[in-house]
Amino acid sequence: MGLKDRLEEDRVAEGRADRGSVTHWRRRLLEEINLEDLTRLTLAQRRVRLEKVVGHILTREGPVLSDRERSVLIRRVVDEALGLGVLEPLLADETITEIMVNGPDNVFIERGGRMQRVDAAFNGEEQLYQTIDRIVSLVNRRVDESSPMVDARLPTGERVNVIIPPLSLSGPVLTIRRFPKPYPIDELVRMGSLDSPTGILLAAMVRARFNIVVSGGTGTGKTTFLNAMSAFVPSDERIVTIEDSAELQLMQEHVVRLESRPPNIEGRGEIAIRDLVRNALRMRPDRIIVGEVRGSETIDMLQAMNTGHDGSLVTVHANSADDAIHRLQTLSTLGEGTIPYDAIRDQINNAVDAIVHLGRWPDGSRRVSEIAVVSSRRREEFRLDPVMRFEAMPMGPHRTVEGRFRHFPLPRHIAGRIYHVGEAIPAAFGVASEEQPRQGW
Ligand SMILES: Nc1ncnc2c1ncn2[C@@H]1O[C@H](COP(=O)(O)OP(=O)(O)OP(=O)(O)O)[C@@H](O)[C@H]1O
Ligand SMILES: [Mg+2]
Repeated sequence: MGLKDRLEEDRVAEGRADRGSVTHWRRRLLEEINLEDLTRLTLAQRRVRLEKVVGHILTREGPVLSDRERSVLIRRVVDEALGLGVLEPLLADETITEIMVNGPDNVFIERGGRMQRVDAAFNGEEQLYQTIDRIVSLVNRRVDESSPMVDARLPTGERVNVIIPPLSLSGPVLTIRRFPKPYPIDELVRMGSLDSPTGILLAAMVRARFNIVVSGGTGTGKTTFLNAMSAFVPSDERIVTIEDSAELQLMQEHVVRLESRPPNIEGRGEIAIRDLVRNALRMRPDRIIVGEVRGSETIDMLQAMNTGHDGSLVTVHANSADDAIHRLQTLSTLGEGTIPYDAIRDQINNAVDAIVHLGRWPDGSRRVSEIAVVSSRRREEFRLDPVMRFEAMPMGPHRTVEGRFRHFPLPRHIAGRIYHVGEAIPAAFGVASEEQPRQGW
């Protein structure tokens, strides 16, 4: 058999031993073995022991696999189980959404939106470095003095960031973010992240091809919300998604997923989000969904929204809806320093229809804190009209955040566009009667 055939066969076998099943068998393995016993064995002995156990479990409960598929699966499960040491049980626990290691003795997790310290500790810096090495070598990266910060992703999808001394003064620091679980919008409604009329309105806006910006701070649920909204894109449209680290999980059939690429060890071969946005325009997309704009790609994205790709969705890091629109302006200047500010404002006023701002509260809850529509036109100063706002009440003794979603009448130019495509508007957003129809719609 030629090399090409062998590679192909391995690839097929790897594909079958898919992500889901590796996670599943890794978890089963961790349930079966006694971690205490394992620590007494050498690394080589541990591997043999684990392979045996996985073999038994697969024989008992596994699918029918060819010999080759079976050995690939065993190898992958054991690789993952061995590689990540004390992190393994934490990774296997699906209620943990984030794992933070600040040096060998300080391990924190986030569960249900709350941060807590856990007992797990590495044997020492040496062991923590080994784990880090293992993680980054999985993605062909290297951590050392010359590249002391690395972003990587585990084969199971978790996002990993590593930063080591001398940049980190707290020893090697590892941050692992669980691959975000997709939440459909009705589940977000059940969880209290937004109310049902707001969900219905957002669905209508997506179907009416509004360009929508999702904004929020780090970890406020931007990607999760983008994913939930994307479900309302009609299934006969061609969607191109562009991300730094592919997290979106769209349900539609006709989706092309693009992921940027960091430079390699020699600092070459980078493909930035901006390159992908430009390339996407040549792919006949109906909609473009960009995971996050944070640099020169912003201006390209706005141009795309203004040139026939309306209905596009994007997230941006910001502290409020108002901050988001101003940030888009600042970010747009990063690409072409030569575009005057008011020309950029023109682009933004034309391109962006609505901003959905997300917040994270002290009790760990995440919700839509504000929705605003853009009412300014051409080169006018930005003017946002509120559509929905979450008003929190003072926190009670249970330390949970309660409040209400307050609705505002939709400006008529917005309502008009929604009616125009035959979508209903929930009564809560009863159209503002005093507004004069705007010129030009
Ligand atoms: N409405 C929600 N309620 C509860 N948990 C949520 C909600 N939305 C997101 N999460 C959880 O919060 C974490 C962060 O979510 P997500 O990755 O979507 O945030 P983000 O704003 O995109 O983060 P980043 O700034 O790192 O890109 C995930 O674990 C996710 O499952
Ligand atoms: Mg995100």
